[in-house]
Amino acid sequence: MKIGIDKIGFYAPHLYVDMNKLAVARNVEPEKFTIGIGQEKMAIAPITQDPVTLAANAALNILNDEDRAKIDFVIFGTESGIDNSKSGAVYVHHLLDLNPNARSIEVKQACYGATAGIQMAKGHIALNPESRVLVLGSDIARYGLNTSGESTQGAGAVAMVISANPKILALEDKSAYLTVDIMDFWRPVYSDKAFVDGKFSNEQYIHFFNTVWEQYKAKSDLALNDFEAICFHLPYTKMGLKALRTVLEEANEVDQERLLANYKSSTLYNRNVGNIYTGSLYLSLVSLLEQGDQLKDGSRIGLYSYGSGAVGEFFTGILQPNYREYLQVEKHANLFAARTEISIEEYEAVFQETVPVDGSTAEFDATKDTAAIYLAGIKDNMRQYVTKKN
Ligand code: CAA
Repeated sequence: MKIGIDKIGFYAPHLYVDMNKLAVARNVEPEKFTIGIGQEKMAIAPITQDPVTLAANAALNILNDEDRAKIDFVIFGTESGIDNSKSGAVYVHHLLDLNPNARSIEVKQACYGATAGIQMAKGHIALNPESRVLVLGSDIARYGLNTSGESTQGAGAVAMVISANPKILALEDKSAYLTVDIMDFWRPVYSDKAFVDGKFSNEQYIHFFNTVWEQYKAKSDLALNDFEAICFHLPYTKMGLKALRTVLEEANEVDQERLLANYKSSTLYNRNVGNIYTGSLYLSLVSLLEQGDQLKDGSRIGLYSYGSGAVGEFFTGILQPNYREYLQVEKHANLFAARTEISIEEYEAVFQETVPVDGSTAEFDATKDTAAIYLAGIKDNMRQYVTKKN
């Protein structure tokens, strides 16, 4: 039985900052951010969007009534969750009015959470072929104003329906994974900003990729030329390119060109959103599928997932017949076109506006937020979520 991605969509908040302008404000050459890091625009979450609303908005765009009835497992991958006890999945389950006979959980291992969710979903569908699983990867990446990580922030979510006989990507069974206890990036429970050893994290990302890639080749008997494209977890778009370049010479010139062209297509959305942690690899997949016009049905796509701390995995999928018909190209184009640029001063003000943590009541002004689902405030330590009526 084939199991894999039946539907996939993403959501990013309606505000963004131009990286050229951020560079000027931070006194660095714009090319450092646009070429050295490889980012054009950075999505900014207003106070009315948190990882729960971002995930719910992403899923809202792809689900129909049949999905609502058949989904019996919601897996929410996040590393910027809003509660240390209750899962974001339970909120999303309610906001989307899903079948009550469902399991709902949150998964955490830095940016690897949604990949763990997909692998778990695969097992669930193997045992329950009629079911569908909603896998979410949703985060707001915060390093702080004027920090070296600032240019690699972002906000957004990806939602996927995993099912039997998927319409988009059938996942293959061979997979290679690795866990090593390292401190390259982490966020203690008392901090709303990440701590990072930037250079070390870059090195480890590549080291993990090389390790799982070698392991994968040994397990599968496949080589680089068996891949139409490889999608990477993208903390920033230059990162995946650095990893890809370490193995590129294993392919002939024609294959190298194809892999590089497809890599470019797989970075277009991320370049304009920024790092969305758990969703980044899957945003890259959406970008490849929707913008890679040379892709053919039946092609093999490689996926490299990396979650600092660290866990890495390399796995693969096969594009299904007529997969293009099931993508959300127009919705995503509209989402990008409807965004509003904010100045660096406005971004700094938005960054500093946070949800109260002292038990006080707050109401947020959502009149400018274009999202269907938003955070209206907090009362008695409970976040108040609202769905706009059409
Ligand atoms: N024109 C073109 N390129 C320029 C330039 C210019 N004028 N000025 C600088 N550059 C280039 C540099 O040469 C460098 O390129 P290479 O890495 O290819 O040599 C690039 O711009 C970045 O410059 P620096 O290395 O000097 O940048 P930095 O030290 O200020 O910060 C960073 C870079 C370490 C990635 C930092 O942004 C950071 O810590 N980010 C967060 C951590 C992160 O994203 N790590 C990635 C792996 S971990 C992971 O994947 C998990 C996750 O999601 C966090």
